[in-house]
Amino acid sequence: MTTVSEIAPDMFQISTFVPDLNLQFNQFLVRDDESLLFHTGPRAMFTEIRDALSTLLDPAVVKWIGFSHFEADECGSLREWQQLATKSMAVCSMVGKLVSIDDCMAVRPALGMKEGEVLKTGKYRFQFLHTPHVPHCWEAGLLFEETQRTLLCSDLFHQNGDVEPVTHSDVLGRCRQVLVDYQQGPLANYMPYSTLTEPTLHRLAALQPKTLATMHGSVFVGDGARALCDLAIVVKEVLGPK
Ligand SMILES: [Fe+2]
Ligand SMILES: [Fe+2]
Repeated sequence: MTTVSEIAPDMFQISTFVPDLNLQFNQFLVRDDESLLFHTGPRAMFTEIRDALSTLLDPAVVKWIGFSHFEADECGSLREWQQLATKSMAVCSMVGKLVSIDDCMAVRPALGMKEGEVLKTGKYRFQFLHTPHVPHCWEAGLLFEETQRTLLCSDLFHQNGDVEPVTHSDVLGRCRQVLVDYQQGPLANYMPYSTLTEPTLHRLAALQPKTLATMHGSVFVGDGARALCDLAIVVKEVLGPK
């Protein structure tokens, strides 16, 4: 079942819960002069997500399709979306564009962004953060919407369960539990712990986001800087060198 919730002005979470995985897959739509979808969701969910998005606007007018890294839940249905939205462009890191996306995913060449570049969609401005290996993958990047201070943070702050769309409560306990639980099974080492991990999370904290829009779990509204610094501690404790 897919639900739609407005989590910031003109920003909507389109959330699909998969009981077998005990996991939500959230996509975010920003309705603007040039509307932006962040994450496509996996191909298997395309029809359901498209129908939910259609309650907000005509899918054919989506202009930008952004995502963090090359993975099914991030960009698996990029082709289906681009065939529907015939003027849309993929938005990803320059590394993503050069290494994978233009060759094997995008219908049209992607917009490859570099650290600090800004994408304006109308009322809203998205600063691109290149974040190699955070949450994972060389090409990883994130978007920070500057006017509302919303960080589209992909797999960071992953929480399991059929949880509320938005919370003001601390989510670090849930995040920690996921990392601990995943270490016991086939999804172990979800995030690499590298020399880039802590500096990257602190760099994101310096943006002082007030909304953290995660792909899996509740959107957190509150002191985003503190949450990111706390996440750096949790990731180090669970996945760092012992
Ligand atoms: Fe991922
Ligand atoms: Fe994900």
